[in-house]
Amino acid sequence: MKKLIISLVMFGCGFGSDLLIQNIYNRETSTLNGKWNYIVDPYENGFYNYRYTPFDETADPTMSGGYFTNQKATQPSDRVEYDFDLSDRIKVPGDWNHQKEKLYYYEGTIWYKKSFDHVKQNQGNRVFVHFGAANYQADVYLNGHKLGVHKGGFTPFNYEITDILKELDNFLVVKVDNTRKKDEVPTVNTDWWNFGGLTRDVKIVELPATFISDYFVQLEKNSLQEIRGYVQLNGKDGTGQKVELLIPELKIRKKIVTDEQGRVEFSVSSKRINLWSPENPQLYDVIIKTDTDEILDHIGFRSISTLDQDILLNGKPIFLKGICIHEENPIRGGRAYSIEDSRMLLGWAKELGCNYVRLAHYPHNEHMLRLADEMGIMVWEENPVYWTISWENEQTYATAQQQLGELISRDKNRAAVIIWSMANETPVSESRMNFLINLRKFALGLDDTRLISAALEIHGEGEFGLTKKISDPFADFVDVLSFNQYIGWYDGLPDKCDQINWSIKQNKPVIVSEFGGGALHGFHGDSLSRWTEEYQEYLFKESIEMLQRIPQLRGTSPWILTDFHSPRRVLPGIQDDWNRKGLISESGDKKKAFYIMQDFYNQISVQKIKKLNK
Ligand code: GCU
Repeated sequence: MKKLIISLVMFGCGFGSDLLIQNIYNRETSTLNGKWNYIVDPYENGFYNYRYTPFDETADPTMSGGYFTNQKATQPSDRVEYDFDLSDRIKVPGDWNHQKEKLYYYEGTIWYKKSFDHVKQNQGNRVFVHFGAANYQADVYLNGHKLGVHKGGFTPFNYEITDILKELDNFLVVKVDNTRKKDEVPTVNTDWWNFGGLTRDVKIVELPATFISDYFVQLEKNSLQEIRGYVQLNGKDGTGQKVELLIPELKIRKKIVTDEQGRVEFSVSSKRINLWSPENPQLYDVIIKTDTDEILDHIGFRSISTLDQDILLNGKPIFLKGICIHEENPIRGGRAYSIEDSRMLLGWAKELGCNYVRLAHYPHNEHMLRLADEMGIMVWEENPVYWTISWENEQTYATAQQQLGELISRDKNRAAVIIWSMANETPVSESRMNFLINLRKFALGLDDTRLISAALEIHGEGEFGLTKKISDPFADFVDVLSFNQYIGWYDGLPDKCDQINWSIKQNKPVIVSEFGGGALHGFHGDSLSRWTEEYQEYLFKESIEMLQRIPQLRGTSPWILTDFHSPRRVLPGIQDDWNRKGLISESGDKKKAFYIMQDFYNQISVQKIKKLNK
């Protein structure tokens, strides 16, 4: 396991062969969003020949029936048994499950095809195709040439197409396979819908022969004045290049020169930084220039740290008034992907009184992070190491590390992101500990400015398990001690909350990263009738009283903002494929428990928790 990690870290995202273009968001791009032709291929007939050999590995071109060649019958005698242009079309971005009735439950391969022209603005430029995400595995081909394979349903990837691109009639073919597999990340069992497809934006980006491929610009850990980071160039002239870093409003203009790897580290200081915070989400224009390239970003500067049981934002204790969010637009149904979706979800969080969100259980689309930066909402981001991962499998670890690297590479310049979460509700074992400890080490190697956490579980002791503690050994490796608990829903009824004694020994800040229960909006009854709004309301009232008795409590993120799709939730008339723990229904209606949580956030503070537990 150890040797594997070293090799991966050397070639991890951001400074090796796994180029991931930083800040595609602000690059000039041409979009490939819109209608793509698609072919459903459950037997992967377009990928394997009848001997189950991949077409793209066969030497004999006549054998090449691979759909990625986008063949056309040109003679009446020709035999071609597929035709993208005569096939149905589907919208990109967007999962296929909610766009086509027949694909609601589909798990398998679907081929996408998009034709496009591209006339380069400058002959010396390089051209890339960039995907915001594809769930779960994407095999990508341009004009019949294989560009690469990406695994992981929630992180970006890109391929250089400079030498394959034509001015007219390019055809981009993507084989997307969302089949769940035991050794993948996540594994086969999740409590969310396995939305398949090209679920985020697809763009063509043209860049100079030597361009700014990556950079990191953030306050140094525990500093309020020192801005540190690096700039990475990509291209044959990356060595010894002059680079200028400008932050005009801070009157910062730093001239630096890249080393033989095209990389240069820097630090600049300013006593006049207007620190980013929920009350003051100040973003600065940051410009990075070389002789051949220039990129603009909008970056906030803030410090996040812990001191004993406190979480300090810019040196001051803060209570994280949070909510968990799945990446789903419940009203439309299916994966959320647009800035409008983000405005709706984060708007509801703000209405709830949140200054913080837990983006569960995987990296969400970049619109969410950019908007959180602007709105002043702190963010917990999570790698999809969920439940029963194949801890012993080295390839599984490599996939988990690759996805974590892509997440950190994409979002490391977003002030809103304060916590990298390694996992959710994973069973304790030696191999799981090695897996998570190595992920933590990898994350800190890429970014030591943020807090590390993971959603753990509590363990009961004593009569009926009324004394709750954290005995998970990973608790010693996190900065913030987070756990999910469902007392009153999975563990007894809401009146059990009052009997709980907290015995959390760790001298660390505690976030209760999940709690709550289900209710069907509009279904009313007494407070012990399961699935009524009254039961959920009662459960939230009792939970809040119980959680405030945790002396180290510094944040809560109830499960969950809105009802969301899950194949595990099949109770007719109540669930019908929806997990009903949302505080908001799939129609956008607030349930009674929403207002219990809103009242709590309107008055809670660190001082109040300390006073309650004196
Ligand atoms: C778990 C898990 C969630 C799940 C929730 C539930 O804690 O983390 O992904 O949806 O509980 O049971 O609804």
